[in-house]
Amino acid sequence: MKVERKQSVVLVPFPFQGHLTPMLQLGSILHSQGFSVKVIHTEYNSPNYSNYPEFVFHSMYDGLQGIDISFPSLDNIYVMNENCKAPLRNYLVRMMEEEGDQLACIVYDNVMFFVDDVATQLRLPTIVLRPYSAAYLHSMITIFQEPQKYFPFKDSQLLDPSPELHPLRFKDLPFPAINNTVPEPILDFCRAISDIGSSVATIWNTMQHLENSLLLRLQEHYKVPFFPIGPFHKMAPLVSSTSILEEDSSCIEWLDRQAHNSVLYVSLGSLVRIDEKELIETAWGLANSDQPFLWVIRPGSVSGFKCAEALPDGFEEMIGDRGRIVKWAPQKQVLAHPAVAGFYTHCGWNSTLESIMEEVPLICRPLLADQPVNARYLSQIYKIGFELDVIERTVIERAVRKLMLSEGGKDLKKRIIDMKQNIVAGMQIDGNSHKNLHDLVDFISALPS
Ligand code: UDX
Repeated sequence: MKVERKQSVVLVPFPFQGHLTPMLQLGSILHSQGFSVKVIHTEYNSPNYSNYPEFVFHSMYDGLQGIDISFPSLDNIYVMNENCKAPLRNYLVRMMEEEGDQLACIVYDNVMFFVDDVATQLRLPTIVLRPYSAAYLHSMITIFQEPQKYFPFKDSQLLDPSPELHPLRFKDLPFPAINNTVPEPILDFCRAISDIGSSVATIWNTMQHLENSLLLRLQEHYKVPFFPIGPFHKMAPLVSSTSILEEDSSCIEWLDRQAHNSVLYVSLGSLVRIDEKELIETAWGLANSDQPFLWVIRPGSVSGFKCAEALPDGFEEMIGDRGRIVKWAPQKQVLAHPAVAGFYTHCGWNSTLESIMEEVPLICRPLLADQPVNARYLSQIYKIGFELDVIERTVIERAVRKLMLSEGGKDLKKRIIDMKQNIVAGMQIDGNSHKNLHDLVDFISALPS
């Protein structure tokens, strides 16, 4: 059922690329179903309004001016959650007073947990957006029940299976462990993002085909309706860019000149940082693999350096036209390019879904949060990626050749094609994601306003 345009949905994104993107995509999906979409965002990383002329945007004071939050600390996230309370409340009150504006609900990114308090005071219903895999939340919830089973662990246990969380090992647990344990403030923060407060439902950028049993287990825990309607980037009708950084499209011309199925795309997403040693090992691994590669080295992504200055002297000249390095790529377009054969990735959830939907198998180099969990599922359960446990040039070189040239690499490709076809089936009429979207529209429309 499509709704009459006068029902509006307010979206509150967390202002970082991997979270802003799925929220804007969700906005497009809801808009296509007839809702008016209002995006209330922080001043920091304001979305580009002109890419979404059909949305109404409103900026909230966040108190973060002058603070470097290229990597958000817990303190900054709490500051943002505190400072945004009053601006959101004022905006919602004004909106409710406007005649004819029927506010159906507020959808917020789970990191913006302040939203539920504000909305509850105003008696407005909220829905939580989970922009990551069910596997990630499931691992967190399981650990919260008995943290002492997992932490602290011994160095000798790093590669041992972790209790009740197959296929995760201790080293894959989804918290940054310091001295093999997790500081209490980090556990508290993770509890805050996993809590749904008084929210009436949860929307997921995932698919039942991939994560049904985990979603069912989580639903037993949360006891509210779940709407897995992914993959958002394919369910969304509009194809506007959601990029915060400027995309260097010249790499597409370079890809056009490469043979079909020959290029490894390398990117570690929008947030993580690596050290100089890892950059150098990666550079030699790529160089020695003899495979063409397109490598995103994001400004600020190598600790202690502005961008790619830590590369070995003369590296780019030595590689010549076999390799291309850019600061930020139009990733979806890159993955869809026929020249691209593999993706060396940090396994962020957006990158994972984008790769699966373009049938590009993976080399998994996870660093933090949900990434190690995703990497284990990709390599051990779905078997569409090879995981790197050691970041060393010969290991990287071997992994690249295995992915691009071996029979094992071809097996990954076959499985990822199958997986993509099943997901596409879920997007058709009567498919799970399609049906869940209809149920979501009915659910939101029936909320008391
Ligand atoms: C963060 C966490 O790291 C991730 O684990 C979590 O799932 C979401 O938040 P991020 O590092 O941003 O994610 O990774 P990811 O989820 O993969 O999102 C990155 C987005 O940036 C993707 O949509 C990708 O297409 C885009 N991107 C990346 C570009 O457009 N160009 C690039 O050069 C690199």
